[in-house]
Amino acid sequence: MASQVFKNKTFSSVYHKYMIPISKETLNMVLSFVQGKRNGQPLEMAVDVGCGTGRYTIPLAPHFKKVLGIDFSKAQINLANQYNLLDNVSYMVAPAEKLPIENDSVDLLNAGLAAHFFRVDEFASEAVRVLKKKGCLAVHGLYPACDIEYKDLSHDLTVVMSEVWKILYQHADKSKDHLLCQYESIYEVIPLKDKQLFQDILGENADSVRLNVNVKHYCVLARKD
Ligand SMILES: C[S@@+](CC[C@H](N)C(=O)[O-])C[C@H]1O[C@@H](n2cnc3c(N)ncnc32)[C@H](O)[C@@H]1O
Repeated sequence: MASQVFKNKTFSSVYHKYMIPISKETLNMVLSFVQGKRNGQPLEMAVDVGCGTGRYTIPLAPHFKKVLGIDFSKAQINLANQYNLLDNVSYMVAPAEKLPIENDSVDLLNAGLAAHFFRVDEFASEAVRVLKKKGCLAVHGLYPACDIEYKDLSHDLTVVMSEVWKILYQHADKSKDHLLCQYESIYEVIPLKDKQLFQDILGENADSVRLNVNVKHYCVLARKD
């Protein structure tokens, strides 16, 4: 399974250093959705599943009383703990398919760039179990192919990048199918009536001052009745 690679300590630190930055646009959509029907009621508990080194966990912290990051990789959780300076953030090693969380206790269950690795039907049942009434599920990811802007080489670089992805896909497992349909397959499985799928969310990920990597993000937002 592709996700086993995250259990490797060296991979984990390379991932944290070089992975495409998180999508601020998506994070803002998630936060507006969660706050949407709350009438100013305070947000108590967010759980970030497949949290990795905490790249989405930490930005959630100012908006909730407590944030728990969960990941099945000890290597990722060790790094997340090293980077954490906040009192209201904690981490645990556990699988997405069997969350160590009480029923009806979570305001936001978030999974960034991770749900395509999960056994999605089991994770979806866990989501329904742990969410409070009006609690929200947010699962989001990014489309692997991307447009690259660099001087007058933008077109050529973008074509090369697409070719690279085509070759990589041949060696990828079924998690890539969720990415290629921009989480439509995950949207279908979520057993909540109030749900929406947003695709082609553009965010500029300036990789450096010289190179712009324009990545498309997508997001499923759902609310428990
Ligand atoms: C691409 S990383 C994303 C990490 C983080 N959310 C981020 O945006 O940087 C995917 C993470 O999902 C975790 N993961 C994969 N399958 C999992 C599972 N079944 N249960 C819990 N964590 C899982 C991996 O260990 C990895 O840290």
